Amino acid sequence: PSLEKDFLPLYYGWFLSKKSSENLRKTGQAFLDELGSLKVFKKESKYFLPAEDPKVKLDLTSYFAKRPPSVLHCTTKFTDFGKAMGADEYAQQEVVKASYGKAFTLTISALFLTTKTAGARVELSEQELLLWPGDVDKILPIDNLPKGSRAHITLGCASGIEPVQTGLDLLEFVKLEKAGTKGDEIEEIGGGKLLYFGNGMWMLLLSKKIEVKAIFSGYYG
Ligand code: 2AM
Repeated sequence: PSLEKDFLPLYYGWFLSKKSSENLRKTGQAFLDELGSLKVFKKESKYFLPAEDPKVKLDLTSYFAKRPPSVLHCTTKFTDFGKAMGADEYAQQEVVKASYGKAFTLTISALFLTTKTAGARVELSEQELLLWPGDVDKILPIDNLPKGSRAHITLGCASGIEPVQTGLDLLEFVKLEKAGTKGDEIEEIGGGKLLYFGNGMWMLLLSKKIEVKAIFSGYYG
């Protein structure tokens, strides 16, 4: 067996440069600050508040207290050190090996937030889609969504929520969009158009997409 087969990472993905990472965190923070201060959000904040104490003051920054510890990343394949389904097949692809350690530019088209997670939606280029696994864009086995639908960067998770949830939350938005639920246009806020999908699901369509520099690599923990 080859060395690389014996040492697969926890996950593969694009790791943002320190500067891009800091800037995106700031943009995400500004979104939380602005959203949290909106009347329309406060009116719908029950989804974020404990049922037994709905009068408690909501602070989105402390609500999404679980933030990625180092530079932000966009996971392509969670390989779980080789234990995950399809891990070897993914790692052995020529495009994966050839792209390892190479620089990419990721395009962020929206920020989103649910009661569980906050994240950035990533729009992958044709070339980047070659690195996207074929089996991850679904919640249910019957889901049939465009390749790359799940591409995201986790910005924060609520207490008790694992980061894997951010991608599943984004897929929920995509499923609603596909079903014709485009979200209610609430208003223009700093950065773009705010959409509300109900049930505490908010999305900011960025008027100016954000480009971030990132290296394709593996994370070994
Ligand atoms: P995410 O934030 O991009 O969703 C390490 O746990 C990283 O792997 C997390 O940041 C999470 O990335 C991703 N991850 C964890 N479990 C996963 C799973 N079952 N499927 C896909 N990605 C997963």
